[in-house]
Amino acid sequence: MLGGLSPENFLARYWHKKPLLIRQALPGFNGLLSPDDLMHLAGEEEVESRLVSRSQEIWKLAHGPFAPKTFSRLAKKNWTLLVQSVDHRLDAGAALLARFDFIPHARLDDLMVSYAVPGGGVGPHFDSYDVFLLQGMGRRRWRISAQRDMEFLPDVPLRILRRFEAEQEWVLEPGDMLYLPPHYAHDGIAEDACMTYSIGFRAPSAQELAVGFLDWLHEHLDLPGRYADPALRLQRHPGQLSDDLIAQVSTMLESIRWTEDDVARFAGSWFSEPKPTVFFEPPAHPLGLAIFTRRLAHTGIKLDRRSRLLFSGRRFFCNGEEVLAPPRTSTVLRSLADSRRLAPGNYPLALAELLHDWYEAGWVQWE
Ligand code: SIN
Ligand code: CO
Repeated sequence: MLGGLSPENFLARYWHKKPLLIRQALPGFNGLLSPDDLMHLAGEEEVESRLVSRSQEIWKLAHGPFAPKTFSRLAKKNWTLLVQSVDHRLDAGAALLARFDFIPHARLDDLMVSYAVPGGGVGPHFDSYDVFLLQGMGRRRWRISAQRDMEFLPDVPLRILRRFEAEQEWVLEPGDMLYLPPHYAHDGIAEDACMTYSIGFRAPSAQELAVGFLDWLHEHLDLPGRYADPALRLQRHPGQLSDDLIAQVSTMLESIRWTEDDVARFAGSWFSEPKPTVFFEPPAHPLGLAIFTRRLAHTGIKLDRRSRLLFSGRRFFCNGEEVLAPPRTSTVLRSLADSRRLAPGNYPLALAELLHDWYEAGWVQWE
């Protein structure tokens, strides 16, 4: 899929560094769903979708859900519909993402699919994330630039570069793929009605991580001690915060400590947290543990398409929740985290119990 490059070579030479065009990355690939299927998805409440259109130089952005008739009323040119997290809705979408597992799962975001009529696109812009742009049906012209000028047009509902100067351009055909590192300016315009599959990654900002970590710490902190002032002396201004008070609070706060293990635990829950739009449905008539274990032995099990399972040492993080692997189950749980499935087998009871909990939460599904 990387045009003859090994994943090691791709990582060393291109990942997060420079663009790569791969002709026929997936020979024979023509997409996973039709424009109608995509429009149908964009009609659903819990699916995140956007419609971007341009008429003369006026850009418009609308957010879904969209009624089916929305699209039949649009012009024949210059609009595009973009739908996020198609991997949550389609086994084939999840399987496509799985092909990118030379990048750690924690870095993976989602599969976005767009449909554009001729001339359609979201305009020249850059993203803060790495992306693989895989062409499905139809052809799209990509123009890219390493420019440093990142100024956006003012008063436009989208981020459109004010001055975009393409340095390279290609027309991508079905099965071709373009990799772009973060902050690389690009503009994809549909040559004919076309669909593009964007495999997107996440790179949290220091601010996002710090806020997340402070929340985590808030729940896990257990500091000893309490404010005490046996040497209190009469203050001239009872309303004043004394230097002693501030110094004592400061010393108490300085006793906040965390270890690498705390950071691993935070990172595990943070990176495995599902998107806010995700709601798991527990099975309507859940099997009891005994029948569940027999079926597990018979058919095996897989993670739900939306589940995220990560690990660090013996700690496992599923959908934001941490569990310590029961004895002798780490190896099996790691292979579930890596490959998202477990072959049929007689697993230790403690593992069957854990999987049964996850099954009751709707986090795993039968093969
Ligand atoms: C697309 O239009 O499918 C991709 C949008 C992008 O460039 O991020
Ligand atoms: Co982009």
